[in-house]
Amino acid sequence: MNNRITNLSEYTQAYDKSVENPEQFWEEIAETFQWQKRWDNVLDWNFKDPDVKWFVNGKLNITENLLDRHLEKRGDQIAILWEPNDPKEAHQEITYRELHEKVCQFSNALLAQGIGKGDRVIIYMPMVPEATVAMLACARIGAVHSVVFAGFSATALADRATDCQAKMILTADGNYRGSKSIPVKSVVDKALEKCDCVEGVIVFQRTNTEVNMKEGRDVWWHESIEGISKEYAAEVMDSEDLLFILYTSGSTGKPKGVVHTCGGYMIYTYYSFLNVFQYDEGDVYWCTADIGWITGHSYIVYGPLLAGATTLMFEGVPTFPDAGRFWEVCDKHQVNQFYTAPTAIRALEACGLEFVEPYKLDSLKVIGSVGEPINEEAWHWYHEHVGKRNCPLVDTWWQTETGGIMISALAGIIPVKPAHASLPLPGIQPIIVDRNGNEITGKNVQGNLCIKFPWPSILRTTYGDHERCRLTYFTTYENLYATGDGAKRDHDGYIRILGRVDDVMNISGHRMGTAEVENAIDEHLQVIESAVVGYPHDIKGQGIYAFVICENASDNIKEEIRSKVSEIIGSIAKPDKIQVVPGLPKTRSGKIMRRILRKIAAGESDQLGDTSTLLNPEVVEAIVLGAEV
Ligand code: PRX
Repeated sequence: MNNRITNLSEYTQAYDKSVENPEQFWEEIAETFQWQKRWDNVLDWNFKDPDVKWFVNGKLNITENLLDRHLEKRGDQIAILWEPNDPKEAHQEITYRELHEKVCQFSNALLAQGIGKGDRVIIYMPMVPEATVAMLACARIGAVHSVVFAGFSATALADRATDCQAKMILTADGNYRGSKSIPVKSVVDKALEKCDCVEGVIVFQRTNTEVNMKEGRDVWWHESIEGISKEYAAEVMDSEDLLFILYTSGSTGKPKGVVHTCGGYMIYTYYSFLNVFQYDEGDVYWCTADIGWITGHSYIVYGPLLAGATTLMFEGVPTFPDAGRFWEVCDKHQVNQFYTAPTAIRALEACGLEFVEPYKLDSLKVIGSVGEPINEEAWHWYHEHVGKRNCPLVDTWWQTETGGIMISALAGIIPVKPAHASLPLPGIQPIIVDRNGNEITGKNVQGNLCIKFPWPSILRTTYGDHERCRLTYFTTYENLYATGDGAKRDHDGYIRILGRVDDVMNISGHRMGTAEVENAIDEHLQVIESAVVGYPHDIKGQGIYAFVICENASDNIKEEIRSKVSEIIGSIAKPDKIQVVPGLPKTRSGKIMRRILRKIAAGESDQLGDTSTLLNPEVVEAIVLGAEV
């Protein structure tokens, strides 16, 4: 396949070229695609404002490039292979031609419901093919999608819809998760009590759960497409028009809407997909993420379809009907590339080898990891029992803001090393800096990971608040994109990601801000103040530990706090441990000393260091005595 690096010296050549002449490097890749109008210049940028533009004044539609462009050669090839939650239900095979028709038809349906170019549309749906159709139909008419993970609460959904002033929500009646069926539409109804920008709701029927349909606002998906044309010429978009907004947590405040645009995102997700996974014609590729996260956007939908791949989309959970489900699906569909998160690997490892051993897994060529640091034990288990020591394991480091994989081995080309993301992709210029922003060169060094040159899928802004984008990513160090992660460069020059250096936790590969969870806990009437930290957790990577000061705490205060957090954010944010404390350790200026709380939560109370300068050193002892370890 064009643009695919096939050996180590090609990687080195491509990398060197991408640094010496980035514009020419990316321009050649961009030429793979159909542009309605060619760009005037490849890149305009500064990290000060920040202001980054790729393929300036180029015109295109990303869906033409991932659907129409493929019709002639691969119209009958499967684009989406959908595996349902229940293995007894039939799977679906949707060809490129069928997907094209579905997307065009739903584009027309959206237009008929009054949605047009530039409007924001929230997608709050289970993992059904229609969720992908929804994303692509938005992209085709130029509406901006914002997918919200269907596990988020009504409040979280309302906050996001309000922030981006969404005009419509696309949803479903319910969501099958293992043996459960979870209502979805009723969450939307509740969210809409709190936000008045949304004018219409389209509801896909999945679980046949009874729902309330509000006249004049709610329409069934199947009715919205009745008698609607399956042809629609894609809207012409500017390279820098918004493609989507995706909300993600930071160290302060509410989640922010990370903005990605059409041209650069298209080039980078395509190029990184092809090269990291070494996708070959005819392969079946499976990423187990949910489309509610960036991994689902870039590596279930956009990257694979741009490359003309067959992408498997899975509705269920790894442990239903039992902990062999992933492997059963791999064998059933002869999966060639498999991409999942360390938390899933650790959970399945804990279930025992009897769930993986019955499966052949001999179609697998590449296995991948994403979302959090993968510990060596999980790495070896995955490599040995899933990859049968035969598949390169690519540990891919990236972020919602980066749009695509930044640091990773290219499967079979760059030798891998357990728990190391390894080397940057062509076009990516990482550097490690000390706390003053000075570059730390050489081997065996560690510090804060930054990127010094723009790549095509870098975030452009945070929706409605450009200043927040500037402050969060571009002011920590001058002229650098600050990732918020710590990293080490080893003696071979390989990069190992050490985890976040800010107040962002990573719970089962999901990003969660400590402040966000604290704000939710503080909503409980008996809570006076709280402090939340992450602590090492065997399966989740990190667990959430909440220290709370309460007034007249009731007997079941912990359960009440958990349900409050569930109600405000979603059950993924529920604290694993809650400790009611008499006070929180504070500096003389009133700042909570999180360092101390992190040590206590990690069971390292013997390493607290000097606490005598605290405003209230006496609370530390009380907290240590009552700690849940
Ligand atoms: O801390 C890093 C961790 O996940 C963060 C980004 O989270 P999110 O935007 O939700 O995107 C997750 C999927 C790309 C990063 O700042 N992270 C992601 N991948 C890895 C990782 N940490 C270590 N190794 C990885 N491979």
